Amino acid sequence: MVRGQVSARQPLPEELPALAAIDLLSNPGPWSEQNFLELMQNPFGLLLACFRGRRAAGFIACEIQGELLAVDQLAVHPELRRQGFAAELLREAVRRGEAAGCTLATLEVRRGNSGALAFYRAAGFECAGVRPGLYRDPPEDGVVMTLKIDCKEKD
Ligand SMILES: CC(C)(COP(=O)(O)OP(=O)(O)OC[C@H]1O[C@@H](n2cnc3c(N)ncnc32)[C@H](O)[C@@H]1OP(=O)(O)O)[C@@H](O)C(=O)NCCC(=O)NCCS
Repeated sequence: MVRGQVSARQPLPEELPALAAIDLLSNPGPWSEQNFLELMQNPFGLLLACFRGRRAAGFIACEIQGELLAVDQLAVHPELRRQGFAAELLREAVRRGEAAGCTLATLEVRRGNSGALAFYRAAGFECAGVRPGLYRDPPEDGVVMTLKIDCKEKD
């Protein structure tokens, strides 16, 4: 995979099991197929996926809450990381959020998730605070990160 050739699009309903399988491999609180389906059916939901050929590589799940783009879940298959999939998913989500009038993207990350923290920092997010005890199973603080969309670097 050459960076720059990755593209993100809305998945088809029959592609949701593959996204749930990636989440199971990636996140301590993985989403079920039903969670993905509900987001797809939510008028304020934004679900995008990336593919290598026909194989699902990763996804991003967001909600548009007025001027806020809330990133709920993001995962890339462990075999396909560090190839630019998540960066493209986030870029496309922010582009669509901006088109819908969002001015700020926000998300929470487990404090010990150094890979995700580094990814979001590399994408321009800044730490906006800590929510003690936000997560369970295992219990952990959440780091709140934000990105000013109207100030983001343009391609
Ligand atoms: C975080 C995650 C989504 C990143 O996906 P990815 O496709 O590997 O990320 P990208 O290839 O687009 O990375 C872009 C840049 O982010 C940074 N980055 C990404 N992963 C990183 C890591 N593990 N450590 C340090 N920096 C990282 C790098 O700067 C990278 O650029 P480079 O590869 O040229 O150095 C992926 O590691 C993942 O699915 N993790 C498990 C689930 C998770 O933590 N989700 C987020 C919960 S909020």
